[in-house]
Amino acid sequence: MSVLSPLIVQPLVIAATLAGGDTSINLFWNFVYSYGAAVAAAVIFMPLVAIFEGIFNIADDFRLSELCNLSNPLLKRLASEAPGTFNHSLVVGNLAEACASAIGENPNMARCAAYYHDIGKLKAPLYFSENQSSYNPHDELIPEVSVSMITSHTLFGEILARQNRLPSEIVAICRQHHGTAPVGYFYRKALSLKEDGELAVNKYTYAGPKPQTKIAAIIMIADTIEAAMRAYTPDTREEYVNRINRLVDEKIELRQFDECPITMGDIAVIKNTIIEVLPSIHHRRVDYDKRKRERGNA
Ligand SMILES: [Fe+2]
Ligand SMILES: [Fe+2]
Repeated sequence: MSVLSPLIVQPLVIAATLAGGDTSINLFWNFVYSYGAAVAAAVIFMPLVAIFEGIFNIADDFRLSELCNLSNPLLKRLASEAPGTFNHSLVVGNLAEACASAIGENPNMARCAAYYHDIGKLKAPLYFSENQSSYNPHDELIPEVSVSMITSHTLFGEILARQNRLPSEIVAICRQHHGTAPVGYFYRKALSLKEDGELAVNKYTYAGPKPQTKIAAIIMIADTIEAAMRAYTPDTREEYVNRINRLVDEKIELRQFDECPITMGDIAVIKNTIIEVLPSIHHRRVDYDKRKRERGNA
């Protein structure tokens, strides 16, 4: 485009010169000047964009695609120190991008936010199941300590995102993606240890805030579903759909979407998008009919 722009500008320059009453037109120098200006603009444009993006922390598509490059230092760190979390984030990225497109939100922002939403787990990767193999540090901890290790990843993620000058929308999503939901597993574990069978749930919940934007809500839904469905192999499509419906309904019942402008219609579209997209991302093609036949023969 910069090579062609002098050809576009040239007639305008001549017209402006003639309109100004000057008839001494030097086509050669006009061309040299306008071509030089176009080349200079092209050369200066990219570094200036980078400088302004850096100063004002602007999340335009250049910056988002730069941040989604897997050779970005923070993502490389996630891949080497928390490989399970890294893979989870990539899958959430694919889901979130599809969901954002489906409800008219920015798909690049959704993918990028998903890639970074769990960077807070870098503080202690082994405390998160996706990064464990045989050793589980929670076996040696009381539930109260376990839950504080788990829930602190949103706060640490926010701090790390700020230190790395990520766009403010992504910083916020690091903090908001679990909202004020409880960590069910450790709450139930703590409850089972109580003799009177009573335990307030508020010490077992994330600190919030709840999602404040539609993209934050998308990340919450995609994150929850990816984590729950990773190791789940349903027998029928109905079971698969029901499980996803239940996961989303739980978040609605916990009023996690009360503070963002998402509608029930948006949530239905997000759910249906994930139902269609997730099996292809997990490379899981369940032959439901075969399973039914097998069960019928058993
Ligand atoms: Fe998380
Ligand atoms: Fe996550």
